[in-house]
Amino acid sequence: IGRNLHYQESVESTQKIAHQFASEDVPEGTVIIAEEQKFGKGRMSRKWHSPKYTGIWMSLILRPNIPLTNAPQLTLLTAVAVVQAMEEITGLQPEIKWPNDILLHEKKVTGILTELQAEADRIHSIIIGIGINVNQRKEDFPDELQEIASSLSIEKGEAISRAALIRSVFKHFEKLYLLYLKQGFFPIKLLWESYAVSIGKELKARTLTNVIEGTALGITDEGVLKIKDQSGVIHHVYSADIEL
Ligand code: BTN
Repeated sequence: IGRNLHYQESVESTQKIAHQFASEDVPEGTVIIAEEQKFGKGRMSRKWHSPKYTGIWMSLILRPNIPLTNAPQLTLLTAVAVVQAMEEITGLQPEIKWPNDILLHEKKVTGILTELQAEADRIHSIIIGIGINVNQRKEDFPDELQEIASSLSIEKGEAISRAALIRSVFKHFEKLYLLYLKQGFFPIKLLWESYAVSIGKELKARTLTNVIEGTALGITDEGVLKIKDQSGVIHHVYSADIEL
């Protein structure tokens, strides 16, 4: 991971560039990284605030030989890699909110966006976008993010080396990815669950079409969240916003 690294000062979105590169058959593990994104993309068609020199905005290109339905597993694997890197570099203990938000003191410091290029039901490329808020100050966040977002330096109280964190993310990602290719999702799932905040808790999941309230039971082998509602029905949630 990251041996083929494309660095850019300013881009619209590293996801967009990664999509172009992926269709040009660049090697697996290629990373696109930028100092600033003008139109950073978040989940559910939201924007991702990506100011210059303060965060890590990057997209990884993968080509695992796995069924399409297992793609969400790689989002969870990425969250584990980022948490392990943060622990190593900052000593802080981040938590994961399903499926892919990384929180410190209940505020979001990282988002992960997984997108696919597929032909029929075969994966051509998986593009994993990672946005880490590293050295923003509180006043750098727009008003609407003040209560919900933070950066590593705010939570740690000192500046954090982005270069060291990037190297550490690559290292942990590569280790987990090789483990995943060899042994499947099970060991990754155990690690993910050990960092997850939502499991066993009451929560509300807002999907694009409805709202499900209940207790989070855990995740399936496909990385899908299982929620048991009051009447005992178990729902499988593929994509949603979670309120704890
Ligand atoms: C989320 O909504 O939580 C996911 C945010 C993902 C942001 C990253 S930053 C690098 C990559 N390029 C983008 O445009 N988005 C992702």
